[in-house]
Amino acid sequence: MSITTGDKVVLIGTGDVGSSYAYALVNQGICNELVLVDIDKEKSEGEVMDLNHGLVYALSPIKITSGTYAACKDAAIVVICAGAAQKPGETRLDLVSKNLNIFRTIIKSVMDSGFNGIFLVATNPVDILAYATWKFSGLPKERVIGSGTILDTARFRYLLSEEYNVAPTSVHAYIIGEHGDSELAVWSTANISGKLIAPDLTDARKEEIFVQVRDAAYQIIESKGATYYGIAMGLARITKAILQNEEVVLPVGSLLEGEYGHNDVYIGVPTVIHRAGRKDLVELSLNEDEQEKFAKSVKVLKDIQASFWT
Ligand code: LAC
Repeated sequence: MSITTGDKVVLIGTGDVGSSYAYALVNQGICNELVLVDIDKEKSEGEVMDLNHGLVYALSPIKITSGTYAACKDAAIVVICAGAAQKPGETRLDLVSKNLNIFRTIIKSVMDSGFNGIFLVATNPVDILAYATWKFSGLPKERVIGSGTILDTARFRYLLSEEYNVAPTSVHAYIIGEHGDSELAVWSTANISGKLIAPDLTDARKEEIFVQVRDAAYQIIESKGATYYGIAMGLARITKAILQNEEVVLPVGSLLEGEYGHNDVYIGVPTVIHRAGRKDLVELSLNEDEQEKFAKSVKVLKDIQASFWT
């Protein structure tokens, strides 16, 4: 059965991340219909009103409404931002049991609507919840995508762009693995227009930059209570890649089935994104150290999965 076409996006969860994502979609003119769904109906209705009042200044027309899970039936993409958010001092993995229970309900409600599109999962721990969405929904892996390391990679590219005074779009470098403490920087292939970066940096400087990336969320949460603009823009980028059938490579959360030598785990890796969701994975050539770190990251996620997936 072919997937749902059209440009309708349904957003589940209109908290800080969800509402920032909606704002990014409207400002970038990425879709032509957006439905906001939240357990707090008054909240979603308020977000809809606020967004609609800016439409006169929007790039392109978009129909924005609040709704129920029934709106998912003909949605091209359902984006899930609902769930408990990380608090100061909490890791993303601390949220597993709380959000897993929330997801059981959400995914059933979406699938009961007759949804036949693509899931894009943002709620943390995003790799675990993308796996859970794939399991709960029964959809093929190609149509369940996690935000993965889309934000971590953006942070990495930003810091390297500052280091080298070039645009972040000219920095080709990836963070892969868990969207979390076990993620890793692929220094061996990081480059600026083909010129490798690693030989220019000391190990100490590389570690300094990587730690700034890995711990950015903790710093932002300490400062302003939550992070939302960066992830929202990453989600908007993935949404655009799907709706415009871009076949662009983005570091999103994808299921491994032997790639990088691992199986049965959703994890951040470079993935070719097109209108039907995931098209293919790009297997970076990792050096020995990177392979070891990646294996550790896979183990962190699979140990968590083993605790709730028997
Ligand atoms: C962060 C959240 C999205 O890394 O996990 O900012």
